[in-house]
Amino acid sequence: MLLCLWGCLRSLTDPLLLSICFVSSPLVQGSPRGAVTAREMSRAQDRLSPGQALWKKFRPIEQLKEEFEKLNMKMETDYEIMVKLISKFNSSASTLDEKVAALYDLEYYVHQVDNAKDFLSLGGLRLVIEGLNSSEATLKEHAAFVLGAALSSNPKVQIEAIEGGALQKLLVILATEQPLAVRKKALFALSSMLRHFPYAQQQFLKLGGLQVLRSLFRQKGMEPLHQMEEKRQQYQQVRLVPAVLEQDWCAVGPRLLALPEHDSREKVLKLVAALMAVCRERYRGDPALGTALSLLRSEYEQLAAQEQQDGDMDGYFGELLGSINTIIQELR
Ligand SMILES: *[C@@H]1O[C@H](CO)[C@@H](O)[C@H](O)[C@H]1NC(C)=O
Ligand SMILES: *[C@@H]1O[C@H](CO)[C@@H](O)[C@H](O)[C@H]1NC(C)=O
Repeated sequence: MLLCLWGCLRSLTDPLLLSICFVSSPLVQGSPRGAVTAREMSRAQDRLSPGQALWKKFRPIEQLKEEFEKLNMKMETDYEIMVKLISKFNSSASTLDEKVAALYDLEYYVHQVDNAKDFLSLGGLRLVIEGLNSSEATLKEHAAFVLGAALSSNPKVQIEAIEGGALQKLLVILATEQPLAVRKKALFALSSMLRHFPYAQQQFLKLGGLQVLRSLFRQKGMEPLHQMEEKRQQYQQVRLVPAVLEQDWCAVGPRLLALPEHDSREKVLKLVAALMAVCRERYRGDPALGTALSLLRSEYEQLAAQEQQDGDMDGYFGELLGSINTIIQELR
C-alpha cells in the first residue's frame, strides 16, 4: 500500500496511471471498472518475473502501457514498410534488382486484406498494373505476382484492378511470347482476378480471354509446327500442368458453363475439352459440372432437333451437342 501511494503520488502528472492506481486499491475494487482493471493487472502480473514482485502494485501498469505501445508500433510498421517498398519500386534511382526486391517483399505484405487495401490507397496497385507493361520480363513477372496476391479474396482490389486495366494487360502478356515464369505469374494473377468475380469473368470472355488461353496451351514450343497438334497434350502435361493445377483452371472452366450465351458456352466447352487430359479427375469429382452438362445436353438436343427440322443437318447447335456428348463420354 505504501508503494502504491508512492506510485500514485509519483504519477500525479499522469492521469491514466493515477486512475488505475486508485481503482486498484481495495476501497473501490467492488466497482465494475475496478474489477476489469484488477483482472488485467493480475494477468500482467502473471508475466512478471519473481524479482519484479516487489513492484507488483503499480509496475504492471507501466508494462501494460509498454505492451500497448508495442502493439501500436507494429500496426504502423506494416504500413510504413509498404510506403518504403512502394517508393523504392517507384523511384527512378532504384536499380532493376532493387525494384524486383521491393516487389518480392511487397508480395508478402499484400496477402493480408487490410494491407492490400492500404496498398491500394497508397497508389501501389496502380504502379504494379503499370509494371505489367515493363519491358523487363522479371519486373513483369514480379508485378503480376504482387497483383495476384493483392487480388486474392479481395473484392475491393479486384474492382480497382479491373478498372485500372489489369485484365487487358494480363491478356496481352498471355497472348504474346513470354518466358514461362512470366506466363505462370500472369495466369496466377488472372485466376485471382476471375475468382468469385462474375463481372471480370464476363469481361474476360468479351476480351477474347478463352482464345488467348487456348492458344497459350498450344503455344509454339521447341516443336516444328506440323507436330504441334500431336505434341500438344504432351506439352500441356510437361510444361503447363503445374501452372494449370496450381492456379485452379480446372475449376474456372466448369463454372463459366453457366453463362447464358451460346457463343460463350461454345468457348467454355472448348476450354473444358482442351483441359480434359489435365483436369479429368477434378471434373469427375465435380457434381456441378455433371449437372451443368446434362442441362446443356437437353437444351441443345431440342435446339438441334429444331435445326434439323428446318433443314440444317450440320447446324451450330448440332455441333455444340456433339462437343457436350464427347465431354460427357470422356468423363465416364
Ligand atoms: C511515383 O513517382 C512519381 C514521379 O516521381 C510520382 O509523381 C508518383 O506520385 C509516385 N507514385 C507513388 C504511388 O508513389
Ligand atoms: C501498356 O500496354 C498497353 C496495352 O496493354 C498499351 O496500349 C500501352 O501503350 C502500353 N504502355 C506503355 C507505356 O508501354
